[in-house]
Amino acid sequence: MTKEEIKELAVRFKNSDPKEIISYFIERFGDKIALSSSLGAEDQVLTEMVVEINPETTVFTLDTGRLFPETYDLIDRTSKKYKTKIKVFFPDHAEVEEMVNTKGINLFYDSIENRKECCRKRKLDPLKRAFEGLDAWICGLRADQSVTRKDIQVVEWDDNNGLVKINPLAFWSEDDVWDYINGHKIPYNPLHDKGYPSIGCLPCTRAIMEGEDIRAGRWWWENPDTKECGLHKK
Ligand code: ADX
Ligand code: SF4
Repeated sequence: MTKEEIKELAVRFKNSDPKEIISYFIERFGDKIALSSSLGAEDQVLTEMVVEINPETTVFTLDTGRLFPETYDLIDRTSKKYKTKIKVFFPDHAEVEEMVNTKGINLFYDSIENRKECCRKRKLDPLKRAFEGLDAWICGLRADQSVTRKDIQVVEWDDNNGLVKINPLAFWSEDDVWDYINGHKIPYNPLHDKGYPSIGCLPCTRAIMEGEDIRAGRWWWENPDTKECGLHKK
């Protein structure tokens, strides 16, 4: 798929139903496309859609080793409900041991460099393995989630990873996501009802207060402009 075509498709699918977008790209990429799920609300919507369109399509998650217990339960509940195996990728044990034994178990609070190193070893390196054999990935990003995401498109070229990136929910609002979850009785993380709109690793996610930005609870000690783990850097 050329960059020209990606641009054309981004315009063509700008106002399309997410299911139509997913159907088109699953048809186009076959077994070379996968859904990357953090088990967050958006990804649960996408899992339901993907499974309905093609139950053979791979859904994978990156288990950093520091997720919430509720997230592990949800991996299990979701796999059982949709009769699909969510493929789990782990970090390299030697790399994590070396990092933790030299910099401390909670190194991420000490500096942005440490935080990025932890995200790289626990998420980005495993993601590279998850990408082996893929030409495209589907993600749950939405444009109104943060300043770092305001320019995303439904389909874009992901230069960092050398893949086509599909964001079927790019222009959905948070209400659209919750209407879909409630309307389709989709399983979701109970932490969402306890003030956690965006859920990552346990030590790096806190609940937000009324009126706070939806990603305010992620790496809350950092500046909003740096708050991407590298999975979605521009
Ligand atoms: S993050 O970069 O800050 O962690 P966020 O939690 O908003 O991202 O999730 C955005 C999208 O990134 C998700 O919809 C999903 O596609 C992907 N993603 C994030 N975390 C993971 C994970 N642990 N495993 C797989 N995909 C993930
Ligand atoms: Fe490490 Fe926190 Fe990044 Fe998780 S979110 S990989 S614990 S720095």
